[in-house]
Amino acid sequence: MKKIVLTVNGAACAGVIILLCTACAGAHGPKKPGALALTPQMGWNSWNKFRGRVSEQLIRETADAMATNGMKAVGYQYVNMDDFWQAPQRDARGNILADPTRFPSGIKALADYVHSKGLKLGVYSDAGAHTCGGRPGSRDHETQDAQAYASWGVDYLKYDWCDVDGLQAPAAYKKMSDALRATGRPILFSLCEWGTSKPWTWAKDVGQSWRTTGDIFAKFDGLIDHNGKWQEHGVLQILDLQAGLRKYAGPGHWNDPDMLEVGNGMSVNEDRAHFTLWCFLDAPLISGNDLRHMTPETLKILTDKDVIALNQDPMGIEALKYSARDGVEVWFKPLAHGAWAMCVLNRNKEPRQVTFDWKDEKVTDEISNRETHFDTPACRVRDLWQKHAAERAIGPVPITYRVRDLWKKQDLGTTETPLSAEVPGHDVLAIRLDEK
Ligand code: GLA
Repeated sequence: MKKIVLTVNGAACAGVIILLCTACAGAHGPKKPGALALTPQMGWNSWNKFRGRVSEQLIRETADAMATNGMKAVGYQYVNMDDFWQAPQRDARGNILADPTRFPSGIKALADYVHSKGLKLGVYSDAGAHTCGGRPGSRDHETQDAQAYASWGVDYLKYDWCDVDGLQAPAAYKKMSDALRATGRPILFSLCEWGTSKPWTWAKDVGQSWRTTGDIFAKFDGLIDHNGKWQEHGVLQILDLQAGLRKYAGPGHWNDPDMLEVGNGMSVNEDRAHFTLWCFLDAPLISGNDLRHMTPETLKILTDKDVIALNQDPMGIEALKYSARDGVEVWFKPLAHGAWAMCVLNRNKEPRQVTFDWKDEKVTDEISNRETHFDTPACRVRDLWQKHAAERAIGPVPITYRVRDLWKKQDLGTTETPLSAEVPGHDVLAIRLDEK
């Protein structure tokens, strides 16, 4: 590896710089060119809105909508069919077939159509003998199915975990991963094992993302039964279940807190909070609503470039929870070029007045090995990843950040003055901090 020599004043600065260099050479550096999902994948999936009502007409119309409504322009790419695209039985040779009633033209023709729109097509299967909906799963047909997908021009496989008696998740998922790779076609592999066997500990080289929880529901705060057990996970429960997982994610391997429910019945505030949090979590942004008919507010949330840029930041470091008090949480996400994003989440139903006096706060991120220096002198090391970085290292200077409200598109001054804002109930304040 190329050695970077830095000359700076002061021992404290030297410490910071060594840590920074470790970060740039570490697990979060870019993977080899051509690797899939170097930033979290973006697209759409049929399940959250349509359940079993998936058809080639729906997929075509969804591709049409994505290509023209502004979603493709901001990075959405995959159009994915979930369960029930398959015929109830394999053919006599064991080949997987599309449901002939709902996909009369077959998957190859559909893939061609989606590709003609400049988009990619995804399918769904299961590591067990049957999918969760009872259609044929890929158990003992991994190679045959992977080859079928590749021959049709499929670009993405979501792989579920129903009907798996006697299977071990790491081996079962590796088997399909190997089968996909053997086809020679780049097919993004999205593991859907609900976090049962902690896929974050073993799936980094198996697929590009792994579900961390059970299924999401279109609720901000989920449903609890009379025994105190969660029946339906809402946005807040899924968020809480991400604790401790951020260190496992990075370019090419993401924690997946499940697909988006934006536009599926929550309030606009809740949808905005859900979308923002998923961006801060570096979650795959797989929309789950009806793209053919959505309100301007839903489209505005799904296509906000500034918030999506946090999710697609090339460093690929998930946000950390900095503080939590009275139902108000503050999250920070380190971004490329020394920037940060801050999310203030109000979990309460009522609005909350929030004051954040920057000079009293210091954020330390152990993954990027970065700290904010809102008031104290600090080492300013810019563009460390770029050529001649060493020459651009400057001695100790205080860092002031420009503060921008990303949803309101308003500049809110700098970190030299305290931030004061009202955050509506079940909503967020999303801030970007760029060095002044
Ligand atoms: C499981 C998955 C869902 C969906 C359904 C389909 O519940 O977690 O995302 O794919 O199966 O049956």
